[in-house]
Amino acid sequence: MTIQIDHLHKSYGSGAEAHEVLHDINLTIDSGEVFGILGSSGAGKSTLVRCINLLERPTSGKVLIDGRDITGAKGKELADVRAGIGMIFQNFSLFQQRTVLRNVTFPLELNHTPKAKREERARYLLDLVGLADLADRYPSQLSGGQQQRVAIARALANNPSIMLCDEATSALDSTTTAQILDLLRRINRELNVTLVVITHSLSVARNICDRVAMIDGGRIVEMGDTEELFANPQSDILKTLIADAKVENHRHKHDSASSDNPTDAPAKEEVK
Ligand SMILES: Nc1ncnc2c1ncn2[C@@H]1O[C@H](COP(=O)(O)OP(=O)(O)O)[C@@H](O)[C@H]1O
Ligand SMILES: [Mg+2]
Repeated sequence: MTIQIDHLHKSYGSGAEAHEVLHDINLTIDSGEVFGILGSSGAGKSTLVRCINLLERPTSGKVLIDGRDITGAKGKELADVRAGIGMIFQNFSLFQQRTVLRNVTFPLELNHTPKAKREERARYLLDLVGLADLADRYPSQLSGGQQQRVAIARALANNPSIMLCDEATSALDSTTTAQILDLLRRINRELNVTLVVITHSLSVARNICDRVAMIDGGRIVEMGDTEELFANPQSDILKTLIADAKVENHRHKHDSASSDNPTDAPAKEEVK
């Protein structure tokens, strides 16, 4: 589905305490696209993405999904909007007291799907994310990558057409990150889910996004096709980040011969 954000502002607090964290955001994310929102810590990425599923209400401006203004949605309309949008997080946010299977059935319990049906759906999704054998485990018995796969399966339970991924690979090592990004790509292509990928990592944006918006201090400073943006950055912040990443990559190549665990090395090209 198409997501349109129109003159969106968001402030926290009110009166003298009011603090605007998003300033006049305008963007259109096309149906079926993998769209990146790239920026450093505190730039406003999470706030922006939380305005898409109305976990936060914009202070002014609009959010339209397939042309329908959802900004004021309440009650059943709000529940329907949220059911159509899956979300995953950096810390996975699984229910620790529930098995893998019952984490995935949870959204289907909320909308009163019959038990047999929700278990069938959960098993199908666990198979899709490669965890069919782990249905009866608890989250603490899984690796980080496996936990994020459970979270992805849970996010897909209601067959959403949009998935919001807020720093979904930031807690994972580089090998696991690559595997999760492959899975997200497959979900985008095979299930035709529009992905909004929030990240502070240049390499994640480059790996998976069709287009990227660079956000700094609550403003979009540039936006475009990923390859073109990285080949020809216009904003000072993106120019600096790319230059830093080149230096670090160069250094990393020289270091890696002596590194005892290169795959677990933290990504070096991250926004500081
Ligand atoms: N619930 C909140 N109340 C007040 N300020 C907040 C709240 N959430 C975020 N902020 C502030 O908004 C700004 C943007 O935060 P956030 O959207 O989390 O950025 P990012 O995800 O890019 O790191 C930060 O200055 C943060 O402190
Ligand atoms: Mg954030």
